Amino acid sequence: MSVDKKKRRFLTAATSVVGAVGAGFVAVPFLKSWNPSEKAKAAGAPVEADIGKLEPGQMMRVKWRGKPVWIVHRTEKNLQDMEGLVDTLADPESEQPQQPEYCKNPHRSRKPQYLVAVGICTHLGCSPTYRPEVAPQDLGADWVGGFFCPCHGSRFDLAGRVYSGVPAPTNLVIPPYYFLTDTTILVGEDGGAA
Ligand code: FES
Repeated sequence: MSVDKKKRRFLTAATSVVGAVGAGFVAVPFLKSWNPSEKAKAAGAPVEADIGKLEPGQMMRVKWRGKPVWIVHRTEKNLQDMEGLVDTLADPESEQPQQPEYCKNPHRSRKPQYLVAVGICTHLGCSPTYRPEVAPQDLGADWVGGFFCPCHGSRFDLAGRVYSGVPAPTNLVIPPYYFLTDTTILVGEDGGAA
């Protein structure tokens, strides 16, 4: 190989390295520009959730203030089944201040079909599991769908109301929220009439 060719190869390799480093430098300001909004979210900025594709029976999750927030599209059957649970719940009327005033109702929500709840167990902070099935083997014949906390066995119905006789002392927290449109929820703010 001639000296010239060797030199060219060296130069090509050197240029690639500079190129890679250059890309690295370019990426830093780009990432930095993301930080303020992430910080704002962690500090409590409201979060928008598009529920347009959420079918009856399904649950989706968004993150608000670093916490999981669940949105469940309850079925008509879910709502009927929930009515029959009152005697088995610790706080069926939501007397404890675990929700905004506009969610102090039997379904604990602005619209009966949609539950919006902070997905953190009120016992010691695990995240319960969504268990919409009716009478699954592990939860028993009386189970009509709800949330089960695997840490110490607390149970909640599909309105986040805690069952009696489990370690969790209160219902799940309902965050402030409102409907921006029929298919968009803003989690973290009380505003709006819907
Ligand atoms: S943290 Fe959920 S039952 Fe203990």
